[in-house]
Amino acid sequence: MTTTATKAVSYRELGFVNTREMFKAAMKDGYAVPAYNFNNMEQLQAILTACVRSRSPVILQLSKGARDYANATLLRWMAMGAMEMIKQMKEGPVPVALHLDHGDSFELCKSCIENGFSSVMIDASHLPYEENIKLTKQVVDYAHRYDVTVEGELGVLAGIEDEVSHEHSNYTDPAQVEDFVKRTGVDSLAISIGTSHGAYKFKVKPGESVPPLRFDILAECERRIPGFPIVLHGASSVLTGYIDMINKYGGRMENAVGVPAEQLRKAAKSAVCKINIDSDGRLVMTAVIRKVFAEKPAEFDPRKYLGPAREELIKMYMDKNQTVLGSAGRV
Ligand code: G3H
Ligand code: 13P
Ligand code: ZN
Repeated sequence: MTTTATKAVSYRELGFVNTREMFKAAMKDGYAVPAYNFNNMEQLQAILTACVRSRSPVILQLSKGARDYANATLLRWMAMGAMEMIKQMKEGPVPVALHLDHGDSFELCKSCIENGFSSVMIDASHLPYEENIKLTKQVVDYAHRYDVTVEGELGVLAGIEDEVSHEHSNYTDPAQVEDFVKRTGVDSLAISIGTSHGAYKFKVKPGESVPPLRFDILAECERRIPGFPIVLHGASSVLTGYIDMINKYGGRMENAVGVPAEQLRKAAKSAVCKINIDSDGRLVMTAVIRKVFAEKPAEFDPRKYLGPAREELIKMYMDKNQTVLGSAGRV
């Protein structure tokens, strides 16, 4: 497919806001803004519908993978169309940020800024400390010219898939946070306190409970950068109801486990102002689609399985806003 270069667009023209005021309000009132990932139309519709209905601000997240999957130009127009859609909803609009999740280069962040993103993450946490600072600062200097907010990361999230156990994850070193924030100029900081990405976050034997997150590290970070917005990645709860549904209807997801909701509620009341959730949305879609396929094997109209998946996603996101993040009713 040929792609034609398109003119740079500011996020304001698309109706988005950056994260600055969202985080200020979340910090003051002790809740977290949801950051939900999307890759397709149904997920985008569900996230916005849920957040408009529950009167919650929201951060729409796109990963590099999502941009490659759905096409950057199409996504820009989809996001703009979605903002027009919510203006027409009877409840009225809510503040929406369009955010790059896990940006891995200056060029990618720059491209997103030129394509209507109001916020970007530069994830250089795997690099040596001084290189992380250098790359993060380069992105901040560019982004701030356009009043785009930037999330940086210190510490690497554990990944059970690469055999890094919970105990041995590379937690954030609180001694570095003040220096990092000061020298880079970032607007928010993602830290590693025991969460990980995906649906297999902890290795637990039957009957064992999930190890608690390192709230001591979070508290020490807060002490060193008081009032500064902290971000929690890898925050899906991997809800057992959907895992059971997936397994019941032909899936195989044994040992899937996530972060208990009580721990997220506790984090949301602290300086954690943004909570990232992607896997829970994927699980809902998979569970519902598997159920439809199992119960109606003759069905072949995508609207008949994507539609019910979208309805279930709306319920799940509304419940997160209401009972986990505390972001419902804040607009
Ligand atoms: O943090 C990772 C997000 O869940 C995005 O995942 O890179 O597969 O789109 P992805
Ligand atoms: P989950 O895999 O726990 O949903 O984490 C998503 C995330 O951190 C996106 O950046
Ligand atoms: Zn993440």
